[in-house]
Amino acid sequence: MDSIIEFKNVSKTYDSGTHALNNASLEIEKGEFVFIVGASGAGKSTFLKLIMHEEVPSRGTIIVNGINVSKLRRSKVPYLRRNMGIVFQDFRLIDKMTVYDNVAFAMRAIGSSASAVRKRVPYILELVGLKHKANRRPSELSGGEQQRVSLARALVNNPAIIIADEPTGNIDPEMSFEIIELLSEINAQGTTILVVTHEHDLVRHFNKRVIEIEKGRVISDTKEDAAEMDLSFSTSELRFESDSPALDTPSVKEEVTE
Ligand SMILES: Nc1ncnc2c1ncn2[C@@H]1O[C@H](COP(=O)(O)OP(=O)(O)OP(=O)(O)O)[C@@H](O)[C@H]1O
Ligand SMILES: [Mg+2]
Repeated sequence: MDSIIEFKNVSKTYDSGTHALNNASLEIEKGEFVFIVGASGAGKSTFLKLIMHEEVPSRGTIIVNGINVSKLRRSKVPYLRRNMGIVFQDFRLIDKMTVYDNVAFAMRAIGSSASAVRKRVPYILELVGLKHKANRRPSELSGGEQQRVSLARALVNNPAIIIADEPTGNIDPEMSFEIIELLSEINAQGTTILVVTHEHDLVRHFNKRVIEIEKGRVISDTKEDAAEMDLSFSTSELRFESDSPALDTPSVKEEVTE
């Protein structure tokens, strides 16, 4: 299996004593689109922060893009993030810079040429519908517009993984729909996408994998539901053929879960 993100028995307890994540195990494959849902305080942002190494786990192992993030040295974090586009819940835009420069900055930070920046930034700003605001400062924009700048910055380096913490939290329903549609198109070209959202309508409409977190635990995962269905299907086929003594149930199960 080609997993891009793997959590093995991961727990995160903050210094305050809050158990934000509790023995979470899951795998996300390259090219998947996953919605993360759950109530406020459930642990969704913590889950994303562990992936990007903004927080470190208290227990367990996290592998991202082949890198053991749980043991990563601080100096290696930029190397990990090079393949990640991140939309933070609180945007984290730089107000001293224009919208254009906020996006260009992400390209310059990884050493893109000036001509690449000149071509790419207007294209990305157009994509998120903000070309006309290129010379504004973030503080002059609405919440939804700031959110789209943050999205543009996440997309601009064409990362392998996009991690978006409520990218539609401040956006009207129609624009939210368009943003997820845009992420879907990017996903269709092979980018792995993780989106935290509270919007059930979006989740229902797009019919992607949904991981639900409650009180730090993964309480449902539509991918696992599907795998279980496959398993029961195969077991019934197995029973159908059970005249043959050569069949070995455990190994068949293994094959199915892989
Ligand atoms: N830096 C921190 N220090 C201490 N506790 C924290 C910290 N960050 C989050 N928490 C706590 O950990 C728990 C999970 O927080 P988290 O931000 O992951 O939730 P969330 O699911 O993203 O919620 P929301 O939907 O409101 O953004 C909460 O109880 C929160 O108060
Ligand atoms: Mg959050």
